[in-house]
Amino acid sequence: MITFESVAVRAESTPGAPDVTILAGVDLHLVERRVAVVGANGSGKSTLARLVNGLVLPTDGRVLVDGLDTARDGAAIRRRVGFVFTDPDAQLVMPTPREDVALSLRRLTLDAAERAERVHGVLARFGLAAHAEVSVHALSGGQKQLLALAGVLATEPAILVCDEPTTLLDLRWRRVVDELLDSLDQQVVLVTHDLDAAARADRVLVVDGGRIVADGDAWGAIETYRDRMAVR
Ligand SMILES: Nc1ncnc2c1ncn2[C@@H]1O[C@H](COP(=O)(O)OP(=O)(O)O)[C@@H](O)[C@H]1O
Ligand SMILES: [Mg+2]
Repeated sequence: MITFESVAVRAESTPGAPDVTILAGVDLHLVERRVAVVGANGSGKSTLARLVNGLVLPTDGRVLVDGLDTARDGAAIRRRVGFVFTDPDAQLVMPTPREDVALSLRRLTLDAAERAERVHGVLARFGLAAHAEVSVHALSGGQKQLLALAGVLATEPAILVCDEPTTLLDLRWRRVVDELLDSLDQQVVLVTHDLDAAARADRVLVVDGGRIVADGDAWGAIETYRDRMAVR
């Protein structure tokens, strides 16, 4: 459960200049299993997404995840909320898929054999078992995105926040990642420009100019977004 209470985010755009408002007046109570966030470039979607796991902290108001305050319980929040970036290169730090997933599992106390088995299981689930020992750089964009997702899910987060996870992918890989995200048990907050993906959500938020301008079922919210973008 994700709660935003009167949240605003302001930041200094250039040193000495007055703060700019990036988000304002956000009140949300998100309990739906699939929440999509749509909006124009620069509207505030990533800021909204990053507030959920404490990568960005509110200037005003509070963000609570299962009752924990992101400003006070950062470490607990990040164990609970997994975050997937658009660009998997921002997330993958180890030379091989096996090592990358092993790194994600470092917090779990497992003996070496259990750890190896767990790593193999995660890679197999994401279709990467045959690539366990290849260089991460040799993977396709789609495989890298799956690996980034695998690493995040290996930590067993209760909530997954994905910021445009399929934007860099071709149609085939987009479908693979979409199907995987659709299949998860976790609550997923998905920032996307893919209106077909948004249409499958239980609830859609439309962000414009740092505010939530529509919030409801997918059909109505996406209509509002299309109207605002004047694309029909
Ligand atoms: N730390 C920051 N300092 C100043 N401006 C920022 C900062 N983060 C985001 N912005 C600005 O706030 C607006 C919203 O950014 P963002 O949340 O990344 O939007 P989106 O993901 O919808 O493209 C943009 O104009 C961006 O340049
Ligand atoms: Mg963004």
